[in-house]
Amino acid sequence: MTQANGIEKVIDYVNVNRDRYVDELKALLAIPSISALPEHKADVRRCAEWCSEEMTRIGLQNVRLIDTPGYPVVYGDWLNAPGAPTILFYGHYDVQPVDPLDLWESPPFEATVRDGEIYARGAADDKGQVFMHLKAIEAHLKQNGRLPVNIKVMLEGEEEVGSEHLDDFIRSHKDLLRGDVVVISDSTMFARGVPSICYGLRGLVYFQIDLRGSSTDLHSGSFGGALANPAFVLATMIAQMKDRGGRIKIPGFYDDVRPLTDEERQAWATLPFNEKKYRSDFGIPKLFGETDYTTLERTWARPTLEVNGLLSGFTGEGAKTVLPAVAMAKISMRLVPDQDPNKIADLFQAYVTKLAPKTVQLKVTRMQGGKPWMSGFDNKFVQAAGRAIEQGFGKKPIFTREGGSIPVVSTFQEELGLPSVLFGVGLPDENAHAPNEKLDLGNFHNGVIASALLYQEIAKEG
Ligand code: BES
Ligand code: MN
Ligand code: MN
Repeated sequence: MTQANGIEKVIDYVNVNRDRYVDELKALLAIPSISALPEHKADVRRCAEWCSEEMTRIGLQNVRLIDTPGYPVVYGDWLNAPGAPTILFYGHYDVQPVDPLDLWESPPFEATVRDGEIYARGAADDKGQVFMHLKAIEAHLKQNGRLPVNIKVMLEGEEEVGSEHLDDFIRSHKDLLRGDVVVISDSTMFARGVPSICYGLRGLVYFQIDLRGSSTDLHSGSFGGALANPAFVLATMIAQMKDRGGRIKIPGFYDDVRPLTDEERQAWATLPFNEKKYRSDFGIPKLFGETDYTTLERTWARPTLEVNGLLSGFTGEGAKTVLPAVAMAKISMRLVPDQDPNKIADLFQAYVTKLAPKTVQLKVTRMQGGKPWMSGFDNKFVQAAGRAIEQGFGKKPIFTREGGSIPVVSTFQEELGLPSVLFGVGLPDENAHAPNEKLDLGNFHNGVIASALLYQEIAKEG
């Protein structure tokens, strides 16, 4: 038998430690680090501490929590490969709220393995994918005492609420974060068995609209007919935001939309997208979207406006004859290159103000957001990722864009001049943000191996 070389030893280690990884991941998934809910403040901090302890355990150096006006950034590095490239690894340790809780088949913070999937809030988004890299780093350090590259790990705790403080953090820590390429695993594979590299994300602008029609709820018999019902007004306003073909009616909204290229349209048309399965997987009676675009084009390359929540009047069981005093809607727009969130926010605000009749009081509140992002995929680090994924998953990755948003990716480009490589191992049906979030453990395991290989492949590009 020949002596196993460095990377083979690393892969052996990953294979041998497979079960331990799952146990450790369960501990991370047990922490309810819900950034959106103030009552979980201590849990989010505890999660940051857990991550920093884990980062120390696996052999990273200079590990610390760096405070921001919000939740801390967890930082750690290993910089002992002079001359080799430096990876800035980014991920998030915060998770989404779990409601509706009664739809979970096992408790969201007691990770449970069923049929090769680990179920828990954060399993796919993003704790499982962050952990995959920590285990890949650990395998290199434990087996070889070194990494083939320099690596800086930064984990944030506010991604799910819009990364409000992260841009400032990056601007004020430019030296600390200096590197050659950003690596992120916070996206999905195109489908089971179809590993993917994501080269585009949509941006986001989010609003809350509040309408008031009277100072208190009113008897709908005594008052009905005498004043505008804010629920009705809100529905009418929303109905004027898109036309019947799904096109957004805000003047100027499409001005900066970068058209799809023929190359993209042709490439996406060959992807194994099964519309029937998509519909049945998610219980959609019939698909609907902007005329003249396919489903992939609509979700990856076209902007959209959606109602995320609506609230007004009596919603309990039975009937109550009432005119609601108020109506509220949460409305967000997903943006594509080259739309600018600030510009779109202004257009939206102006349009909503124009739509609102004098019969109601209008309040428009802007919430989180982020810029869209798109990279070329001819860069050498993307090529390196392609080779690593092919070895880890036994298949060449395809190139995808995604409809979701990771606000910081464009900041890395703009503030640090860094390209990002998005290598995600989640699956589209793993219920991110929904009940019964899960992560396929086979993909996790292959992902640890592919991540370990990725560092080696990136080292070759030094
Ligand atoms: N990991 C997701 C983003 C994502 C989802 C990328 C699907 C690729 C495919 C991230 O955690 C997320 O949910 N982002 C939010 C951002 C928002 C709160 C500013 C989103 O997209 O809604
Ligand atoms: Mn995420
Ligand atoms: Mn998310």
